[in-house]
Amino acid sequence: MQDISNIVILTGAGISAESGLATFRGPDGLWEGHRVEDVATPEAFARDPALVQAFYDARRARLAEVEPNAAHRALARLDAEWPGDLLIVTQNVDDLHERAGAKRVRHMHGELTSAWCLDCDARMRWDKDLCDHPNCPQCGVAGRLRPDIVWFGEMPYEMERIDRALMEADLFVSIGTSGAVYPAAGFVQTARYRGARALEMNLDPSLGSYHFHESRTGRAGELVPAWVEEMLSPLGSAG
Ligand code: OAD
Repeated sequence: MQDISNIVILTGAGISAESGLATFRGPDGLWEGHRVEDVATPEAFARDPALVQAFYDARRARLAEVEPNAAHRALARLDAEWPGDLLIVTQNVDDLHERAGAKRVRHMHGELTSAWCLDCDARMRWDKDLCDHPNCPQCGVAGRLRPDIVWFGEMPYEMERIDRALMEADLFVSIGTSGAVYPAAGFVQTARYRGARALEMNLDPSLGSYHFHESRTGRAGELVPAWVEEMLSPLGSAG
């Protein structure tokens, strides 16, 4: 891995699958039991807030029952030990990267553990239910908190920061994402346009697999620790 300094890593639901969190697409996926339009759009929230809050309350509660897996831990190790720039951009709304110890993480689709007050616009850490119309701790108004999740039709977070990192990347790595949702699905092209190498690790080739120089297929819990070892062991021997 000579000549690599800046790394951007994109993660998706597949990295949390071995922790016991459902992915979105495919059999038993989250979108199998729900229509996206019913739970993941601002219009759905306006139409049936109780249904949307219940969907995200259940997912938030599930976080307490799961743990980071070997893939999250390996990325946290890379984050701690990689001397160059590194950014983990996750589409996931769980907190497993942080709980594994990763620091350089950006949640482009928001976080289950954050609430957003539609009255005073404040965002705050939140680990309880939202279905029972709690007061906003900032402004005191009841029933105006929504999950701080980017729904379809809304702008993903941190895009300027992410684009900058993609422009400067020497290596772009995509882990556990189907490549079905933009803008994340287009990150590989942005990074490659600026000359980055591109590596994909997924259970099966993603929709945009042909954009990558290399695709490794298998479970993230096995592939990611092996790749991190490949990245870090030359540094150890050089020192
Ligand atoms: P998907 O459910 O679309 O894709 C998950 C990918 O992970 C699939 O390609 C699986 O083959 C792969 N996978 C499953 N288990 C794996 C494992 N153990 N190791 C490695 N790979 C595995 O999830 P995302 O691509 O993350 O957006 O979905 C992108 C966005 O679509 C989500 O952030 C969400 C959703 O709609 C919003 O809610 C805004």
